[in-house]
Amino acid sequence: MAREILIAHQDILQRVEELAREISADYAGREPILIGILNGVVFFFADLVMRMTIPCKIDFIRAASYGSGKTSSGAVKFIKDVEIPVEGQDLLIVEDIVDTGLTLDQIVRSLREKDAASTRICALIDKKERREQAVTIDYCGFEVEQGFLVGYGLDYDEQYRNLPDIYVLK
Ligand code: IMP
Ligand code: MG
Repeated sequence: MAREILIAHQDILQRVEELAREISADYAGREPILIGILNGVVFFFADLVMRMTIPCKIDFIRAASYGSGKTSSGAVKFIKDVEIPVEGQDLLIVEDIVDTGLTLDQIVRSLREKDAASTRICALIDKKERREQAVTIDYCGFEVEQGFLVGYGLDYDEQYRNLPDIYVLK
């Protein structure tokens, strides 16, 4: 499928460095659990976590919204939940891209039910055009108005995840 480069790998890494610095400063003196939402987040998560300058723990959630292709159905299934006990802990949910907001909203709800001390959100990309459920993104890498993005972990039917840059499909 035709694609056009949107964000080059070096620009991604520079922004990830800034985010890690900001998050490390905000959580100074605490030990947050960074929770990555699999699979799309893998490269962003690794790059972010390695740049954190404070102690932190990591865990993962795998949530699948039904169906493949370019739209999210809103029905979210938890295939894998967190394993570290999160009660009383400071949680930072790390997501690749927020589109309708439906997936993240359900993940945040499920974590808040576990009585975490705090729950914040970090997303590499905030794609605003199709937002249906308002979500507060505390740390945002890039804002994008529209388009279907691939690369740096983002897929279209499981393809393109391995590309180092982020592209928009044409
Ligand atoms: P939401 O529930 O509509 O916010 O979508 C959540 C999930 O859909 C994201 O975590 C991605 O896995 C996927 N998604 C949404 N937009 C894109 C895109 O432009 N490229 C690749 N995946 C996307
Ligand atoms: Mg995802």
